[in-house]
Amino acid sequence: MTKRILLVLLTSLAFAACEVKKKETSDNGQNSFIDSLMNEMTLEEKLGQLNLPSSGDIVTGTAASSDIGEKIRAGKVGGLFNINASKIKAVQKVAVEESRLKIPLIFGMDVIHGYKTLFPIPLGLSCSWDMDLIEQSARVAAVEASADGICWTFSPMVDISRDPRWGRVSEGNGEDPFLGSAIARAMVKGYQGDDLTQNNTIMACVKHFALYGAIEAGRDYNTVDMSRMRMFNEYLAPYQAAVDAGVGSVMTSFNEVDGVPASANKWLMTDLLRDQWGFNGFVVTDYTAINEMSAHGLGDLATVSGLSLNAGVDMDMVGEGFLTTLKKSMEDGIVSEAQINAACRRILKAKYKLGLFEDPYKYCDEQRQKTEIFNDEHRAKARELAAQTLVLLKNQDQILPLKKESKIALVGPMADNKENMAGTWSVAGDFKKSISLREGLEAVVGQGNVVYARGANITSDSLLEKRVSIFGKPTYRDNRSESAMISEVVKAAQGADVIVAAVGESAEMSGESASRSDIEIPESQRNLLKALLKTGKPVVMVLFTGRPLAMTWENENIPSILNVWFAGSEAGNAISDVLFGDVNPSGKLTATFPQNVGQVPLYYNHKNTGRPLPEGGWFQKFRSNYLDVSNAPLYPFGYGLSYTTFEYGDLSLSTDSLTMDDELTVSVKVSNTGDYDGAEVVQLYVRDVVGTITRPVKELKGFEKIKLAKGESKTVTFTLSKEDLAFYHQDMSFEAEPGAFKVFVGPSSAEGKEADFYLK
Ligand code: BGC
Repeated sequence: MTKRILLVLLTSLAFAACEVKKKETSDNGQNSFIDSLMNEMTLEEKLGQLNLPSSGDIVTGTAASSDIGEKIRAGKVGGLFNINASKIKAVQKVAVEESRLKIPLIFGMDVIHGYKTLFPIPLGLSCSWDMDLIEQSARVAAVEASADGICWTFSPMVDISRDPRWGRVSEGNGEDPFLGSAIARAMVKGYQGDDLTQNNTIMACVKHFALYGAIEAGRDYNTVDMSRMRMFNEYLAPYQAAVDAGVGSVMTSFNEVDGVPASANKWLMTDLLRDQWGFNGFVVTDYTAINEMSAHGLGDLATVSGLSLNAGVDMDMVGEGFLTTLKKSMEDGIVSEAQINAACRRILKAKYKLGLFEDPYKYCDEQRQKTEIFNDEHRAKARELAAQTLVLLKNQDQILPLKKESKIALVGPMADNKENMAGTWSVAGDFKKSISLREGLEAVVGQGNVVYARGANITSDSLLEKRVSIFGKPTYRDNRSESAMISEVVKAAQGADVIVAAVGESAEMSGESASRSDIEIPESQRNLLKALLKTGKPVVMVLFTGRPLAMTWENENIPSILNVWFAGSEAGNAISDVLFGDVNPSGKLTATFPQNVGQVPLYYNHKNTGRPLPEGGWFQKFRSNYLDVSNAPLYPFGYGLSYTTFEYGDLSLSTDSLTMDDELTVSVKVSNTGDYDGAEVVQLYVRDVVGTITRPVKELKGFEKIKLAKGESKTVTFTLSKEDLAFYHQDMSFEAEPGAFKVFVGPSSAEGKEADFYLK
């Protein structure tokens, strides 16, 4: 061996040893770094770290922050959120150059479904059932946001909800905890990657912990009350999945849990989250959630702030209760210094993990800003994913896909509205850059083949319209009479082969503080649809919505309905891809559509009563039903059509009797029997026939999205073990019970092949 080779070998061994050491000491280094920093901090500076003012650029609560610059200089701010990205570097400079200890700020934002490149709203994304694409959407969002200075996102929102009156169903993943958990994992992975110290990953914040989606009557911020068993079996799994996936932070919810608002709920924030689930990141409140506990009836600001800290909350969003009251509460013995230190340490740890102490400007990268935000690659991804989220609800006479030679009459209040394509909670978006449906169609058939007429306002109620024309998403009210607008449309339709009607909700008719007691399509638009039907032309309804709607009339009368949610920056292109058949629709609903609002809450994984209706039945005296509507949904969970057809073979089980240590495989052959290549979401549900507590009639326990060329067949195999069959009991133990089970595999929660097995 030559001297030179030996030298290289020794050097590389030494280098490897040094790398290992660096890794070892970096964890220890974190603690000793934070210890020595905290030794230098005054109590006021520690409380400053717990304070999260808003930039004032976006205000969602009843209060806003003030004198932020002064407070940063005085060490009274831990981070900022929803700040216009162009200001981040300058604001960070104030923190690291003008405050005594030069502690960098953490910058958060509601990056909910994309940053500048907007993806479909989360409810839409969930309908793709494609975990890989969902993860990629979060990855793109992280790359873009981090190039612009943001290192922390208030996402994923994983609140299970069974109430479409609640506007925030648009921000979640629907009604199922199994699917919701898979999406929670995919989103956390997409944002945080494998390494938070990279400059293109950001810290996720799972929200709103907990149970926010179960608010009474679907009225935002309302009371929640449910049994522990329901919490654990039906609502908590997605939050836990995010924790298991390593989410860096958790946001409290506005609602109460077991009589105590989440932000003061020690059982929730400490016993469950930290002690049982092992969460070791930090907890931030929702916007002024601490202050709001006074209105909940828990006491004055000092009292609720003390309760919140003692419950295990670390950071106070906007309200400044921690900043202004905790010093005195400590002197009065209401909170301890140890608790303040613990909260401060957790926040400093997050900043350390993100690498902010090493380089406070690492997320402000002018080069990356130029090349990595809203670029062609990201837009192509958004288009691809958006097309996967569209759900074909009806397609009588195969009106769809449209022929590319068609002359199209395009009508409706959402047909030519770029600003509304993104949907709710799209803080950073430049809405004018979204592709409208009109642009999408024109790009395929040419401008001359699309005749546009508006036909109706979103609603004839101008006050309601004003309430939903906010956050830079105008609905462009047309002040002509309803009949004048309709006659224009009827004329426009004369020379057309097909009418495409873009109707439903505007983007801000769902989202925060956008609950509706009437979840039908507004009358102005229904009148338009009636007039369109009278023309005798085929009508395709392109449904924009942020929630399941009660659209029984539309389902009965309109031949073709494509639900497009709010599909993001590339909406118009993605919708056109599906309308013309370049992409075969494969989205499946993740929230039940009721026949009318009176059936709400209506969800597939319900319990049986002691007086169930026979399947498919309607009214029977002294049975659990309504006089005026059947129990069936309009469209069930898991439902969605394709341009092709799929046939399911019989189920084949590896055994019909398994022990607690066995695994059961369930296989089914799925064949594409129609005329188009397509994709199908194959869904597996289980029913535990006899239990020591009542069990749901069906629960999703597996799914796989498969692509099948026309004429092709594939066998899909699922594996079930006792963990999949386990549930929480009255004593909160989590285990499977021996006994009979049914397994169903099919294209939705309402259809499929069935088999029986026994767990010994
Ligand atoms: C919402 C949160 C959001 C926060 C910060 C609140 O009003 O409930 O979801 O993350 O504002 O913008």
